[in-house]
Amino acid sequence: MYAQEVKSTGKGIKSLDEMEPDERAFQEKIDANIKIEPKDWMPEGYRKNLIRQISQHAHSEIVGQLPEGNWITRAPSLDRKAILLAKVQDEAGHGLYLYCAAETLGVSRDQMTEQLLAGKAKYSSIFNYPTLTWADIGAIGWLVDGAAIMNQVPIQRCSFGPYSRAMIRVCKEESFHQRQGYDIMMKLAAGTDEQKEMAQDALNRWWWPSLMMFGPPDAESVHSAQSMAWKIKMNTNDELRQKFVDQTVPQAEYLGLKVPDDDLKWNDEKDGYDFGEIDWAEFYEILKGNGPCNKERIGARQKAWTDGEWFREGLMAHAKKREARKVAAE
Ligand code: 3HC
Repeated sequence: MYAQEVKSTGKGIKSLDEMEPDERAFQEKIDANIKIEPKDWMPEGYRKNLIRQISQHAHSEIVGQLPEGNWITRAPSLDRKAILLAKVQDEAGHGLYLYCAAETLGVSRDQMTEQLLAGKAKYSSIFNYPTLTWADIGAIGWLVDGAAIMNQVPIQRCSFGPYSRAMIRVCKEESFHQRQGYDIMMKLAAGTDEQKEMAQDALNRWWWPSLMMFGPPDAESVHSAQSMAWKIKMNTNDELRQKFVDQTVPQAEYLGLKVPDDDLKWNDEKDGYDFGEIDWAEFYEILKGNGPCNKERIGARQKAWTDGEWFREGLMAHAKKREARKVAAE
């Protein structure tokens, strides 16, 4: 029953009758859409997969602040600066919710950060590209946050309670992020020729990396089959990528901008767009740390971690003292 329902590769997925009693009872809860809470029994693989995905998601939120933070002091108006400040601050909050959700699975923030800095945990590929003009801030809001919404909305229904609840708050704020980005693109596209060119240049540079955000093609996805069987993931990478293209191309047309893909063509039969080949070699190079900004991003995270050590130690000392006072008073 449930194994057949797994939409993607399905490789190595146990059927119910191959499972131990605990595993079967757990899977029947998943199949019945009963939320799994931190104190519930769960297979070690489920816990590990969640820590992998949630910590990567949290790292992405924090690293994602860096390319945008680069433009806070260069925003073209006080309004744009205030909006960008609010967005970047939201992303820090998203990282916080997600690190807290991961901590309920028994991993500490320090461990997750050390894994990131040691190259043992990832963050989204998209944040390894430079933000060269103000139009990039528009393209990031419109395309990157647009792709993030496409990918995060289904996670609101995922099986792990703390993760699904974190997503409900995150998705509300993401909609503002996407809207403010599209508003920047509308102003530029309706502006001077030079401004419109800047918007087109940003679309040219951010379009393909945004499609890569959804992960490798389903046939190369390592985790999809099991993640979908456990309802950690509700759709395959290619499904969400297709939905994103179908939703975003009309938005580019409304702006009077051209999507940089000569193979883009509406396909009546599939009721969606056919689009060109993604450069997966570029994607995998980025995952190996060889993207335009990988070293700069990890360097910034390492510096923040090292520079902040005294502050973390002070907080911990204060917390320990308060705890000791509380125990002494009992
Ligand atoms: N960037 C970096 N690594 C990626 C990736 C990407 N865009 N897409 C896939 N990968 C990695 C996977 O992590 C996995 O490597 P691992 O085993 O070392 O973790 C490998 O490539 C194979 O990919 P899979 O398809 O098997 O991996 P998943 O099933 O985990 O699917 C995913 C990848 C769709 C990104 C999924 O992890 C996911 O939905 N994550 C949660 C949402 C998320 O992280 N969204 C993007 C960042 S949040 C954001 O953009 C912030 C916003 O405010 C702008």
